[in-house]
Amino acid sequence: MEIYIHIPFCKRKCAYCDFASYAGVSPEGRRDYIAALKKEIRLAGEKFRDRRIDTVYIGGGTPSLLSGDETADITDSLAAAFPLFSPEEITIEVNPESTDGDKLKSYRAAGINRVSMGVQSLDDRNLVAAGRLHNAEEALEKLRLAGEVFDNVSCDFIIGLPFDTPEAVVRELNAAAALVKHISVYELTLEEGTPLTLSAARGETVLPSDDGVAELLETAVDALAAKGLGRYEVSNFARTGYESRHNFGYWTREEYVGLGVAAHSFFGESADSAKARGIRVSNPRSLAEYVAGTAGAESFDSLPRASQERVEGREAEDEEIMLGLRTLRGVDGQILRGRITPAVARFFESAGEGRLRLTRDGLAVMNSVLAEIL
Ligand SMILES: C[S@@+](CC[C@H](N)C(=O)[O-])C[C@H]1O[C@@H](n2cnc3c(N)ncnc32)[C@H](O)[C@@H]1O
Ligand code: SF4
Repeated sequence: MEIYIHIPFCKRKCAYCDFASYAGVSPEGRRDYIAALKKEIRLAGEKFRDRRIDTVYIGGGTPSLLSGDETADITDSLAAAFPLFSPEEITIEVNPESTDGDKLKSYRAAGINRVSMGVQSLDDRNLVAAGRLHNAEEALEKLRLAGEVFDNVSCDFIIGLPFDTPEAVVRELNAAAALVKHISVYELTLEEGTPLTLSAARGETVLPSDDGVAELLETAVDALAAKGLGRYEVSNFARTGYESRHNFGYWTREEYVGLGVAAHSFFGESADSAKARGIRVSNPRSLAEYVAGTAGAESFDSLPRASQERVEGREAEDEEIMLGLRTLRGVDGQILRGRITPAVARFFESAGEGRLRLTRDGLAVMNSVLAEIL
């Protein structure tokens, strides 16, 4: 089982971001949140006492707003709550401006062994347009620092920002690739109602065209391959042996428990039954509702939920296809039988052992292929 912990605090909201994260939470609000989180950890540990915990991911929001002590409080609570707590990978997401050497060392002392930094771009004009609080120089300096404290460092980029060009993407990814083992490259999603989406709709911000973004993504794939970071999932690139184990759990439909505001979980009656008959739940998105509801709960099953659904039969199979086809490992060819139409057959190739995956061209049009076969 994988554990996800959500830290919903940010210094300021970025112009593109629609994640459950809040700026301006008071110190008391933050303390109450961590207390609720620790209670939820305890209840989850009771429910899943027989599950081996393989990975932990502390994501956000901006987990690097946590002090070393707060982080150790969370990792200690996890170790105390889950009897079979033996994670190989514990990741924390950090933002450049709230990262420094002492903090990184205190995270390492708290058991963290992987850091994922939100760089997004190394063009200062893009960083301003995106509402980020760091500049390119600071991002590179903090990546270097992270590499001195941790062996396993990753960073995130967003492609499709206003000043992206193929030449700039190659230059920026080369600079980052020299400092890290893993890079995630996401295509900009224009989330409804965010400042960037509104500004683009008014014509004040001019973004690359869809074809332009597709070209930028292909350029990114080549640039990273040339630096030894192979594509193992549609948006993820790593040096051999540094693929994210936590994300691999999501893509292979392992059980995971998400703790904190707006977090999602997926689990079965037993560890073995989740794939065929799973339950997916999500936590409330409102901080107040999460904190009050968690304080009043006596068991994991009575925690407040925003949604709850069973995933079985054809829906479970569709999920396996949708997630598996994102990866180099692909999916079992048997599940795809009768689904691949002549229109999309050319986008599939063998992944060995009876498995099929999308070709590079297939990954570029993944959503259309999925719409055809699901
Ligand atoms: C939820 S964020 C948390 C990471 C951290 N707070 C940061 O921003 O550096 C995780 C990643 O999602 C990506 N992301 C967030 N919003 C996005 C959007 N609208 N389009 C594409 N990628 C996005 C960014 O690359 C970001 O690093
Ligand atoms: S992208 Fe990261 S730092 Fe920016 S608002 Fe979203 S969660 Fe916070």
